[in-house]
Amino acid sequence: MEERLQKILARAGIASRRGAEELILAGRVEVDGNIVTQLGAKVDTQLARIRVDGREIRAEKKIYLLLNKPAGYITTLSDPQGRKRVSDLVQDIPERVFPVGRLDLDTEGALILTNDGTFAHSILHPSREIKRTYEALVSGSPSREALHQLTSGIELDGVYTFPAQLRVLYRQTRQSLIEVIIHEGRKRQVRRMFQAIGHRVLHLRRTAYGNLRLHGLPLGHYKVLRPSDIKQIFL
Ligand code: URA
Repeated sequence: MEERLQKILARAGIASRRGAEELILAGRVEVDGNIVTQLGAKVDTQLARIRVDGREIRAEKKIYLLLNKPAGYITTLSDPQGRKRVSDLVQDIPERVFPVGRLDLDTEGALILTNDGTFAHSILHPSREIKRTYEALVSGSPSREALHQLTSGIELDGVYTFPAQLRVLYRQTRQSLIEVIIHEGRKRQVRRMFQAIGHRVLHLRRTAYGNLRLHGLPLGHYKVLRPSDIKQIFL
């Protein structure tokens, strides 16, 4: 993928965008052995060897974020309808991060964003069975038998879900709050699981990804994950 040289330098944490422009104009930046002094120059971020003052730079340092996604934000990076995107909430991060997996427009909670494709692939891979914990506020009071269908696996689009772990946090006649732990990420899975047993999800929040919890992170805020936080995902 081609990008403007000053943008690549800024993302790599070398300088601000303006500072990177100054480095280029001063003839301190080399691409594939040639000094580049043109500001508009586009460079392949994967292939080009970029040096500043003779020292090679990594195109982009790896970064990992945990965002408490509010409802009303989409997890795709662009939207023809112009809706609010989760990337709008992490705009002060210079690296170009993308969400790992998706949460529905109206789902809140834990969303990991990163620029590390290998890491994203590894946590999404079904063989890793990384658990996702949700709190689902559902209509009515699902019976034990109905919940049992979810804990043993229920057919969605002709394919059985893996057994879910459920915990009833409270139960009222009109609505109940149920903690759901699954390790799959099928489209609208939690909503469709409850729909299949006749209960509508009124509100859905992901509280943890693996053992990485939101704790007190306010809605719409993110934190940069440290290696010890990242370990929690895999525990
Ligand atoms: N299950 C859903 O139904 N929606 C989500 O956003 C995540 C899991």
